Amino acid sequence: MSSWADREAPAAGQDPVLAQNPVVIVGSGHSGVAVAAGLRTRGWDGGILLIDSESGQPYERPPLSKELLKDGAPDEAAVLRKEKFYADKGIARLAGVTAESIDRDGRTVLLSDGTRRAYHRLVIATGSRARPLTVPGARLPGVRSLRTRDDALELKMRLVPGARVAIIGAGYIGLEVAAAAAAKGCEVTVLEFQERVMSRVTSAPVSRHFEQLHGRHGVRFVFGAAVTSIDGGERAERVTVADGTAFPADVVLAGIGVLPNQELAADAGIECRDGILVNGDGRTSDPAIYASGDVTRFTSPIDGASQRLECIQNALAQADRVAAHITGQPAAEPEVPWFWTVQHGVRLQTAGVRHPEDQTIVRGEPSGGKFSVAYLRDGRLAAVDTIANLAEFRTAKRLIAQGARIDPVLAADPAIPLAEATSGAPSHDHAAADLAAARS
Ligand code: APR
Repeated sequence: MSSWADREAPAAGQDPVLAQNPVVIVGSGHSGVAVAAGLRTRGWDGGILLIDSESGQPYERPPLSKELLKDGAPDEAAVLRKEKFYADKGIARLAGVTAESIDRDGRTVLLSDGTRRAYHRLVIATGSRARPLTVPGARLPGVRSLRTRDDALELKMRLVPGARVAIIGAGYIGLEVAAAAAAKGCEVTVLEFQERVMSRVTSAPVSRHFEQLHGRHGVRFVFGAAVTSIDGGERAERVTVADGTAFPADVVLAGIGVLPNQELAADAGIECRDGILVNGDGRTSDPAIYASGDVTRFTSPIDGASQRLECIQNALAQADRVAAHITGQPAAEPEVPWFWTVQHGVRLQTAGVRHPEDQTIVRGEPSGGKFSVAYLRDGRLAAVDTIANLAEFRTAKRLIAQGARIDPVLAADPAIPLAEATSGAPSHDHAAADLAAARS
């Protein structure tokens, strides 16, 4: 990536003090926990300390905006690993404690409980936080975001039949909450700055399909909506947009994207640019410090783009790379990133990362409920959205990994399997396809 990526940290064995020190992992979301688990799987027998500012057991995040909000669903977030796992694997945990600063020369981290912890290697897996709404009134009680287990449980209590719910942002979070709220009998209005839903992640045909789906469940959309203020007395009571229209609301949810929690690294002088910069091994500009998951920015091994990925697949893949590098072992082959959302029971599953300028090919009739959209870049399959079509998702992932060339005319015919809509050598190389599938 850049010259710092080639620097080596002193090996633990060369320094008796370092050898006694653990791998300290800051953040116990999907990525942090996976680094800890991966280190043990790969035979690391030194100490591991997992630190997190949230109390309780590390938990899964995707259900917070889906299953957890449903009526009758238990108020418990699914835990990532049972408590016994940490004990059995000798992984020490500190929950409810925040890492405040890093002393890179002394190789220690200062924690909010006043203690200082020495590290042999430090892994920053601090994830991302909900981007805060900054308009006047945004701090009124009743204006919320959804990122943590506590956020989800508080929101769930407010989603009662007849409640007027104003959602700002029609991204994954806004739409998943809209679906949950509509199912509970709330009156839901989604205010979106852009002209269509999920514009950051998908194309217009997919946006339209989901907008119509929500419409059938009674969700109302206002596009081109620039929120100017939240108004009310002791609590938020309405959301006002630029043309002066005010939307009465008992619940206001902002789902307007996330920001990487990079401050711990940035304050220590580690290179950051909308994310902590890491190389292919997960190392930062300090060779003793790694970063993993949502908080990182890195060069895609697939297409060379600089990217920050907000998905579990990346959180786990980077964790494996970090664990591999710390233990001096080869990492798994890079995987095509993938993402999913479920709204009103309809699953959108995406393989690869679409760029807005990609050629868009719709396969199938959206009104039939099952279709996909292929995205071509320079004639090659770069990404695919599949709607209720998991089989095509798997094929697409394999073809993207191969860098398969796609014939746009053939691909536009849904009767032709995507694997047969290829043009050029790579896609006809079935041995390579099988290898790529085995790796993915
Ligand atoms: N007013 C209205 N809409 C806004 C505003 C605003 N001030 N600011 C942003 N938006 C819209 C964007 O146009 C976008 O459509 O909010 C939407 C945010 O969508 P995402 O970027 O997908 O973010 P979000 O839905 O918050 O999801 C964040 O959580 O589900 C996880 O990891 C997943 O990346 C996802 C993350």
